[in-house]
Order: sequence, then C-alpha cells, then structure tokens
Amino acid sequence: MSESFFLSTLKREAKDWESLGLRRHRKTLLTPAGPHLQLEGQRGSALSFLSNDYLGLAAHPDLRDGVAKAARLWGVGSGASPLVSGHMQCHADAEKTLAYFTGFEDALLFITGYMANLAVITSLLTSPEDVVFSDSLNHASLIDACRLSRARIARFSHLDTQHLAELLKATPARRRLIVTDAVFSMDGDCADLSRLVELAEEFDALVLVDDAHGFGVRGSQGKGSLSEDNICSDRVILMATLGKAAGLSGAFVAATKFLIEHFVQHARTYIFSTAPSPALVGAIPMALKLIQEGEFRRVRLKALSARFASGVASWRYPTFFYGTCIIPVLVGNEIQTMHCAQALSHRGVLVAGIRPPTVPAGTSRLRISLTAMHELKDVDTLLFAAEEVGFHRDVVDG
Ligand SMILES: Cc1ncc(COP(=O)(O)O)c(C=O)c1O
Repeated sequence: MSESFFLSTLKREAKDWESLGLRRHRKTLLTPAGPHLQLEGQRGSALSFLSNDYLGLAAHPDLRDGVAKAARLWGVGSGASPLVSGHMQCHADAEKTLAYFTGFEDALLFITGYMANLAVITSLLTSPEDVVFSDSLNHASLIDACRLSRARIARFSHLDTQHLAELLKATPARRRLIVTDAVFSMDGDCADLSRLVELAEEFDALVLVDDAHGFGVRGSQGKGSLSEDNICSDRVILMATLGKAAGLSGAFVAATKFLIEHFVQHARTYIFSTAPSPALVGAIPMALKLIQEGEFRRVRLKALSARFASGVASWRYPTFFYGTCIIPVLVGNEIQTMHCAQALSHRGVLVAGIRPPTVPAGTSRLRISLTAMHELKDVDTLLFAAEEVGFHRDVVDG
C-alpha cells in the first residue's frame, strides 16, 4: 500500500524542521522541580536554570501538605464543569482569596493560563468591528486568543506606547481591548502598565494584563506587576498563572464583579471544561501565604540577578537584565543557540535554547531563569561553565 500524501508531506516537513534546528526534545525528570535535577539517562544531577518555579514553591513541604489535605477533604477530581457541579466551596473560597490578595472585586479560576487568556479575549471581542491592540511580543496564548476572537488585530511594536496611541487614534471600533504581557516571557522586560491604563482611559478601552511572570515575584508581598506599578482601575483585567511562582498549576482572572460574571456566562473555555482539581485549588491559600511571607525569597532573587549581571560584561552575546527572573542571552542564530545550550548541558548546566516560532527568526536566545532555590554559587557555576564553552571567545566548542 502506498503511503498517504498527507503522511509523506508531514514526514518531509518533519525532516525540514529538524534540518533547520527547530526540533524540540523533551527531558524526563527523575526528581521534583528544583535547581538540581536528575534526568533520565544521565549520571549525576544537573544544575537547572529552566524552571518558572521562581519562588521555589513547587516542591515546598507546606504546599505538598496543602495539596494532600485538600485532596483528603475534597477529592482529586472536580467531576464536572463549573456550571454543572464542578464548582466546590474550595473553588469559591480560593476565588475570594485571590480577588482580595490582588485587590479586585472578584476572581475566576481556570485550568491553565492559556485557557484563561482564551476566555477573556474571545468572550469580550465577538465582532469584526471590535479591535484588539496587542504587543508584538505577547505570549502565544494571547496571540491565539486574538486570532480566535472575531476581532480585528492591531499589533503595536514591542513596548511602544506611542505606536499604540497612534493605532488607537486611527482605529474606529465598537469595542477596544489592549492586551499585554506584564513581564514578557522570553525577554524578561516589562510593559509600561501605567501608560497603557492612561491610554485606555483616553481612548475608552479595557486592558488585559497577563502577569504570568510577575505574580508572586513583583509588587508588594508578591501581589504582582499591577501592585508594583500602583495600578487600580476598573478598566484592567488581570490574568495570572498559578503554575509559575505560586508553585501549583492553573490560573485565575481578576476583575470587577460585572466582568467576572460576564466570563462565567460567556467564556467558552470556562463553561465547557472540567473545573480545576480541588486538590490544587484547596492549596491556593497556602501558596498565597508562602508568597506573602516570601520577601526573603524575592530578596534572594535580586541578589542572584546582581551576581549574574556582574559576571557577563565580557560575554560576546548581549545579555539583558530588567529586574525580573527572566534573563535572555541573545545568540541570534537557531543552530548556534542550540549549540550553546548543548555545550552548557555537557558541563552539567541546563538553560533553555529558545527558537522560532517562540521568538522571531534571528533572535534565538538562551533563556536563563533564576529561582529562589538557587544559591550564589550556582550562578558562579553557570558563569564558569559559560566561560569554559567560549562565551568570551570567538568560537563556541561542543
Ligand atoms: C506570559 C504567559 N501567559 C500565559 C501562559 C500560559 O499559562 P499556563 O502555563 O498556565 O497555560 C504562559 C505560560 O508559559 C506565559 O508565559
């Protein structure tokens, strides 16, 4: 039997993907999240700068206990979507606590941040006469949500609020929504949220702030990027994930009571998906307590970042520090980027090589992420390994 055209073209594309240096490989971890990982098939542990577990809570004993207690009390599965019978007291309590913590009237839980972003954008924008104004480097989940909505998409240049203002002025719309990462996931830089809210006031728009990488690590008591910038506005909708600094999994949206009710009524990824596991939801208050009391963790992150910054001055690749946990090292070429990541990995140091389509072509990079579980000597190990593999010279060896 001859192979189908479908499969043979897929196989040819897979070969091209590989030859362009774009093939991804999963690692199987034999240890919980943390800076020292044991990987399947490798001897000894590796020092990891891969994780978004910024506060080091993912394997924290109190959070493990919190999940175990919640599982005993509520079970593991919610058994149904929230509007059927999946919304338990623990979900209602966690939503109240998250709203209070972030300073909003109400909050709504989602199974992932991806789903939460789809929910907000597709339920607010439903007509080609609506316009979504989206930063050009927004996270894939925001981009996909914009595409899935019926709205026209107006992309503004990264962090360029002047460009955004021009687009807002030039674009008549029934409804306008500005969407942005608060901390950009592959760059580590931060949106000027105050200016975005000013523009929203001036041009009668709402603003969706995706604080996946700011919640827990920025702002007073880790309340996030809106707290960092002292922003409180009815025009703002916050989306934050619970799978990064909070050490759990899932996400929430916080906004006015009216908007949260709108999402309950109209957001398809909320209505047509099983409610989050009560075991994880029941541990949210513990995660928030650890975040709130975790100032020493945030202080440590600053110290690690300062140590790292002091060691990269002579690197041949531009390395950027924005006071967040995400530090990009711009290599440029895809193959060279993966070569660098592999060379470090051979020396027991794991950093992520980030290539298109995650980032634009020609801007491939190493993404180094610091967590409060790292020690200063771990940063020194990374700096030493980078020196060994030639970050200071012309040629990077394998
Ligand atoms: C900026 C940003 N938004 C949203 C998401 C999606 O969140 P989740 O992993 O909970 O789906 C991510 C995850 O990587 C992210 O970096």
